[in-house]
Amino acid sequence: MIDLKTYSIAYFSVLENKIVPETDVLTLIEKGDIIIVKDLISQLGLESKFSQLIEHFFSIQKNQLDEIHKLKSVKQIVDDALAIRHNTSTLILQSSIMKRLLEPHVPCPYIELQPNFRLHLPYKIIKNHEAFIESRMGRGKLNPHGQHKDSWRYHPKNTINVWLSLTTANKNNGLAILPASADYNPKFDADKQEISRGVKTYPIQQYISDMAPGDALLFKAELLHGSIINTSKKTRATLSMRCTITKPEFHKNVVYNYIKLNGEKFDNLTFDKFMHSGKFEPVSAEYIFPPAEDKKTSLQPIEYDEKHIKVNIKGSVYSFPRWCSHAGADLLNGELDENGNLLCPSHRLCHLGKRCNK
Ligand SMILES: [Fe+2]
Repeated sequence: MIDLKTYSIAYFSVLENKIVPETDVLTLIEKGDIIIVKDLISQLGLESKFSQLIEHFFSIQKNQLDEIHKLKSVKQIVDDALAIRHNTSTLILQSSIMKRLLEPHVPCPYIELQPNFRLHLPYKIIKNHEAFIESRMGRGKLNPHGQHKDSWRYHPKNTINVWLSLTTANKNNGLAILPASADYNPKFDADKQEISRGVKTYPIQQYISDMAPGDALLFKAELLHGSIINTSKKTRATLSMRCTITKPEFHKNVVYNYIKLNGEKFDNLTFDKFMHSGKFEPVSAEYIFPPAEDKKTSLQPIEYDEKHIKVNIKGSVYSFPRWCSHAGADLLNGELDENGNLLCPSHRLCHLGKRCNK
């Protein structure tokens, strides 16, 4: 374990829109806030450790990560990404960071044993390889994963996510999170472990990551969140780490591999339960989300059918497709952005409307 005790960290609250003291961080996360830590890697003096990790596993420089899709084949990237997840040095780096972030609050937090190294490649590159990628490493590690809660993916209900970006992660390839949505339990697709096609995700209320390499986000894994489909030309690389402050609250009959960080040693609390097991039965229901209902969604179609949605924008009528061209989500549950583009509720793909003749 790397001793990071002496490093101080600055935290910024998204909902309060200000710098907050370390002592408030966990309470704010519990309330559904998102905490930004600018430049966590250099605040902890870990630049060279990360450079070594990238060089060792990918044989490239850290600043080449966002171009990795030009340097390697999808198969090579999958192999490298699996190797880095299954390696002790990644786990030690992850554990050291988590220990520093959590120890001011609790002496012995629990962390997910397997680090998640996510390379979110430009969608153009991977769209013909999604089945292969999912067969090797599941959904969301290399390809887009729609809005979800981590408990839909077997993780404890009390999980906190630390999402550390190693590249730029912005509105074209980053993460969209709906603040204060822990009590919103919409219908989801149990196979895809993401929202069902007919669910609202309130895109204009989502927080969109705007991160430079080394920045981190801290948020409750029960907030609805998901990667934005990567329409940029850059790969987004993230080390995402999960933890719980108290004993992991697994679903009935479902366990996953979390360990207790006990002093300098790993206490193999659930090591014997390496992969999730058991039947998966979290809550799935239609649910009113009061803050969003109060504000209303921005989409007020004047008419729609199976193919199109027509919307009046500043006195002109625009036609949008009914279904998202990416994965077929129902755009009736999308919302307009400030430029009059319709955002998909699942992966936030941006659709331009066609102006209709009168
Ligand atoms: Fe997640």
